[in-house]
Amino acid sequence: MPSTAELFTHLSGSSPQLGIIGLGQMAQALLRPLLEQDLLKREQVVACVANHASAQNLQQKYQIEVGLDPAPCLNTPFLLLAIKPQQLELFLQHPAHSIELSTPQPLLISVLAGVKLERLQRAFPNHSVVRAVPNTPALVQEGLIGLSYGAEVSDIQRSQVSALFKPLGQVFELPESQLDAFLALAASGPAFAALVVEGLADGGVAAGLPRQLALDLAAKMLKGSAVLIEKQGLHPAQLKDMVSSPGGTTIAGLRELERCGLRSALMEAVVKAAERSRQLG
Ligand SMILES: NC(=O)c1ccc[n+]([C@@H]2O[C@H](COP(=O)([O-])OP(=O)(O)OC[C@H]3O[C@@H](n4cnc5c(N)ncnc54)[C@H](OP(=O)(O)O)[C@@H]3O)[C@@H](O)[C@H]2O)c1
Repeated sequence: MPSTAELFTHLSGSSPQLGIIGLGQMAQALLRPLLEQDLLKREQVVACVANHASAQNLQQKYQIEVGLDPAPCLNTPFLLLAIKPQQLELFLQHPAHSIELSTPQPLLISVLAGVKLERLQRAFPNHSVVRAVPNTPALVQEGLIGLSYGAEVSDIQRSQVSALFKPLGQVFELPESQLDAFLALAASGPAFAALVVEGLADGGVAAGLPRQLALDLAAKMLKGSAVLIEKQGLHPAQLKDMVSSPGGTTIAGLRELERCGLRSALMEAVVKAAERSRQLG
């Protein structure tokens, strides 16, 4: 598999190699580490957004070419589509879609929640299409990225896409049928985890800790527990039992969590998020 640096230096010279349509939160989370780690040169990126003011801001912030015309982005070997799913129909009406592409078999990587490969292929008939589901911890290179490939994607392109996302975290290649569930757990999950951290910290404050310390402890405890489960290959029930002594503090807390239906609430949150992803598609 090529490294991410090799991926872009192997592609020709100084012309833009990565086109980004929609440089919002997610695209910036993907772009930032690539630029910061010097895996991608600024002149190799071109982006387009919807509003003049955000184009100017982003151009200044990242020192890359950002405009309102999608044509220069469409004509790159790698195209990242990162607008909202609801903005796709309007975007596809832009006259730039009728331009003739000079790049043979370019690759379209879509991060649009729920938008199926089949729909992407119809909308971008000259591209090979890939669905990518990144999550926000990609901002700190702790991301989880789910990838599903269209039938036209070659083996070389698969390893190129994988290399592109590697600096952001762990890459999982999945059948498209599992992608909505992946999104619900891995990409909506950080919001669910944030609520758990906030709730635990509130509990800490209620029990007498200063706010900042309680927030810090809650986040670090969650991270430490996750690392322990992962590194020692523990089933979550094993960790729970390790911490619960007969008649002790932990079992008293666990009893309350069961009474309030925490596990069922988390299960429903993931199922609802997956359903919503299917609806958006
Ligand atoms: N945020 C997440 O955690 C996350 C996680 C997984 C997947 N995703 C997916 O990532 C995608 C983007 O989400 P986001 O949170 O990054 O959204 P966002 O911050 O609202 O960014 C949307 C971007 O698209 C641009 N845009 C809108 N219409 C356009 C058009 N017609 N032509 C060109 N650019 C256009 C916007 O430009 P202006 O700023 O000028 O309006 C903005 O730069 C979504 O499809 C979402 O499903 C997001």
